[in-house]
Amino acid sequence: MKATAAANANIALVKYWGKRDEKLVLPQNASVSVTLDGLETQTTVEFLQKLTKDEVVLDGKKAEGIELERVEKFLDLIREKAGIGENAKVVSKNNFPAAAGLASSASGFAALALAATKAAGLRLDKRELSVLARIGSGSACRSIFGGFVEWLKGSVADGSDSFAEQLVPGSYWPEFRMIVNVLSDEKKKVKSREGMKQSVESSPYYGAWLESLEEDLEEMKEGIMQKDIEKVGEIAEHNCLKMHSLMFTTKPAIVYWNDLTVKMMKAVWEMREKGLKAYFTIDAGPHVKVMCLEKDVKKVLGEIKRVKGVKKSIVCRPGFDARLLPKNLF
Ligand code: PMV
Repeated sequence: MKATAAANANIALVKYWGKRDEKLVLPQNASVSVTLDGLETQTTVEFLQKLTKDEVVLDGKKAEGIELERVEKFLDLIREKAGIGENAKVVSKNNFPAAAGLASSASGFAALALAATKAAGLRLDKRELSVLARIGSGSACRSIFGGFVEWLKGSVADGSDSFAEQLVPGSYWPEFRMIVNVLSDEKKKVKSREGMKQSVESSPYYGAWLESLEEDLEEMKEGIMQKDIEKVGEIAEHNCLKMHSLMFTTKPAIVYWNDLTVKMMKAVWEMREKGLKAYFTIDAGPHVKVMCLEKDVKKVLGEIKRVKGVKKSIVCRPGFDARLLPKNLF
């Protein structure tokens, strides 16, 4: 059978950076994110007897090397669960630049988990899908759900209690906006998987990061429940800078920022000096995402325009659960 699914990317407000189990993708800490409606991956999967190997096309290009291997391994998990042996044809497209720190692996593996399980004849509930998507890419477990989401760290060895849960749907806080500013089309040099492993092993601050997270998580969840942009923004910005401090102090150092990243950060601080409630967060790439409320979007965009070199600003609302689509990509 052929099935197609869509999933939205998510951006962490309290970040995940480090695993306690590499194979099962179990995190060192819980994280909180917002799923974004403007950044979407659509994926069609069909298992076919005639294929001698998996065929994967991502954004019009045949996947090869590590990229292909990652998808093949993920499909193996699904074949095993479903008791089937056929290879699959997978076609996937993003409406935003992939692998540049814009969370394409999150929406990508969430959409693949849903489309491939359906195509294989499996019926998984959202929690089971979240556990499965997590093994493809940690942050993908959060993209199974829309709105504001928490990924629970879990404690059991098989990883069955490390999944995401929705805190509140997007409709709870519809005024929340995340403006995703694309600053470069380049693919990132250090994959997050490799980068976070090196940080756990070598940053002298890793222990301090973990110790400080409980407070960030509690306050972030409170801020979301209170729809308090100041609280959410301040904690998200601080948490993001703590994560980047881990990256800088990794051996060898990991720096995802470029000159424009720093200019954008300064522009956000200047916005706040002018009384605008705008806050940034940055992931494993140079792009700066700016949080604010709907009523301030116009003014914030006006300020962003003054920073020369920003390629694109995508205004996103809280997005939706991963879902099946009626129309296939092939
Ligand atoms: O799940 P991955 O391997 O794409 O790693 C995500 C890492 C960050 O985006 C930097 C943080 C996060 O929690 O999403």
